[in-house]
Amino acid sequence: MFLLMLRATSTMKKDIEQLSTEIRLLKEEKGITILAHYYQRPEIQQLADYIGDSLALSQYASECRVQKILFAGVHFMAETAKIINRRAKVLIPDAAAGCSLADSCTPSAFEQFLKQYPYHKVISYINCSAEIKAMSDVICTSSNAEKVIQSIPRHQPIVFAPDKNLGRYLIAKTGRKLVLWDGACIVHESFSIEKLLKLHRQFPEAKIVAHPEAEPHLLKVAHFIGSTSAMISYIKKSDADTFIIATEAGILHELQKQVQGKTLIPAPTAEDNTCASSEWGFMKMNTLEKIHSCMLREYPTVEIEECLRLKALQPLIRMLEISKN
Ligand code: 13P
Ligand code: SF4
Repeated sequence: MFLLMLRATSTMKKDIEQLSTEIRLLKEEKGITILAHYYQRPEIQQLADYIGDSLALSQYASECRVQKILFAGVHFMAETAKIINRRAKVLIPDAAAGCSLADSCTPSAFEQFLKQYPYHKVISYINCSAEIKAMSDVICTSSNAEKVIQSIPRHQPIVFAPDKNLGRYLIAKTGRKLVLWDGACIVHESFSIEKLLKLHRQFPEAKIVAHPEAEPHLLKVAHFIGSTSAMISYIKKSDADTFIIATEAGILHELQKQVQGKTLIPAPTAEDNTCASSEWGFMKMNTLEKIHSCMLREYPTVEIEECLRLKALQPLIRMLEISKN
């Protein structure tokens, strides 16, 4: 049995190596640039030309002059790249790679909701569909949300969508009143505060680091709250050696490469006794096999009707402008 398992593991390893080599060759041959979010599988991050958080990836997509992008991320991120960079062919290995938060805000329900607030400016978190972006005045990510809110005059009422946890965090941070859409990310709502505090009692010197999409009671005990890239810089600069990390566990791959010698512990979730269950299948549908096949066929691609693209582009341009200063 043990020998069989060993053989299976080494076959899998060979497949990963072989596929990675073929993908590298295809990248060269076809001139495809691979962009990946930190929460993609490690073997995918290894092949990426550029890895970043949502803001960095959007900025890269808007500035790069490449003709073909393969976006290893969830659907709304690949869609955002296409909105920003119309000329590039944007390949998406699995169009079903989804975001529970983006799915929590459907265009028809949001349109109805906005009818109640005709004089509000609409700030939408980038984790939403092109249709929701098109109904928004400005987009933000977790890296620039405070800045985006502060760019709007104080007397101006604001609707914030779709993440209510990030919204509550921003209300506390900026002192602004925001009308919140009732959406959330199931990954960030899966953490157990009881288990987290128990774990912290085992590692009292550990710093708790959380993404602002986590629930308020969890953010209350966090030593640092920030976007994926902000967490990486905090951990790199911190004198502490141990960190408990409350966000999608994929970030641990890049982190561990950047902060060798530090101990990184994924925050425990309510459902499971293993700590690493904040890795969610629906977000991780991209695989090396799918990337390989997508590059070979140059399909599937992200396609958006031009009229919708132009409407969704305006609030994204505003965000990119605000982020420059
Ligand atoms: P970032 O803004 O840190 O990329 O976060 C996006 C996200 O989806 C976190 O779950
Ligand atoms: Fe969406 Fe949550 Fe996954 Fe981020 S972690 S992409 S918000 S489902």
